[in-house]
Amino acid sequence: MDRESNLNRAETFSFVNPWIRYFLFFFSFLFWVFSLLIAGIGVYAKVQKATDTVRDTFLIDPAVILIVVGVVMFFITFCGCIGALRENIRLLKTFSFTLTLVFLIQLVVAVLGFFYSDQTQDALGKFVKKAIVHYRDDLDLQNLMDYVQKEFKCCGWNNYTDWSWNLYFNCTRENPSSERCAVPYSCCTPVPGETVINTMCGFGVQTQTFLDANKSIYPVGCADRAVMWMETHLLLVGALSLGLALPQIAGIVLSQILISQIQNEIAPPF
Ligand SMILES: *[C@@H]1O[C@H](CO)[C@@H](O)[C@H](O)[C@H]1NC(C)=O
Ligand SMILES: *[C@@H]1O[C@H](CO)[C@@H](O)[C@H](O)[C@H]1NC(C)=O
Repeated sequence: MDRESNLNRAETFSFVNPWIRYFLFFFSFLFWVFSLLIAGIGVYAKVQKATDTVRDTFLIDPAVILIVVGVVMFFITFCGCIGALRENIRLLKTFSFTLTLVFLIQLVVAVLGFFYSDQTQDALGKFVKKAIVHYRDDLDLQNLMDYVQKEFKCCGWNNYTDWSWNLYFNCTRENPSSERCAVPYSCCTPVPGETVINTMCGFGVQTQTFLDANKSIYPVGCADRAVMWMETHLLLVGALSLGLALPQIAGIVLSQILISQIQNEIAPPF
């Protein structure tokens, strides 16, 4: 081969596959925008609740979790985005390494959560207990509990008598609240054909037996319901986990391929 054609070849031939490069770029860019959104929602929630003291009762503020997840994701996807665009090996290696780290942490948490499912349930139960205690003090918690109870057709954590944890619904004789022994409306079973919503349907049910309460509310606790839901939606749970894991694995594999291609470009293997 003469010198000229050799030079031409060097100009047009590249070890770096543009499809992989641009796919990694767009893919990281998408999640980069998404990370800004997550962090933004976290900051918004934090600012809105700045004066709220109820949040202090929780060990970890959910808004802070959003901010941390958003910032970490921002950093990682930024490395992937700019690394792919500029073919920067250092950024791509940082992307690959941190993504692998995050993936492994998630894997460990998932495996621990599976093997220590009793402890996981205890932790969830403690969270729900706090949500029940502060049901009337925090609109977010109230909406969350109402949503869970309506969606899962359940009441309380163990059963409907858990609502005694709340000052307003506490069923001791001395409680002066007008809602003594009641449960929130979100526990109520819809009455077919009823046009006017009976918001009082949960009143006094804590004094009733399970079978009597069953006539007006969902008496089963949300813990049992959640387990039942998991068992009947195993496929969905698996698909969701895969949906979380696949983009990460794809990012790790693609960035590794790109790194080796760029390295070949710098120092060809022949
Ligand atoms: C509700 O749950 C508590 C705690 O598990 C239990 O002690 C109580 O007997 C249950 N009440 C009914 C009516 O099932
Ligand atoms: C209900 O209130 C009484 C009196 O304040 C308290 O002793 C009791 O523990 C409360 N019940 C529950 C289930 O927390």
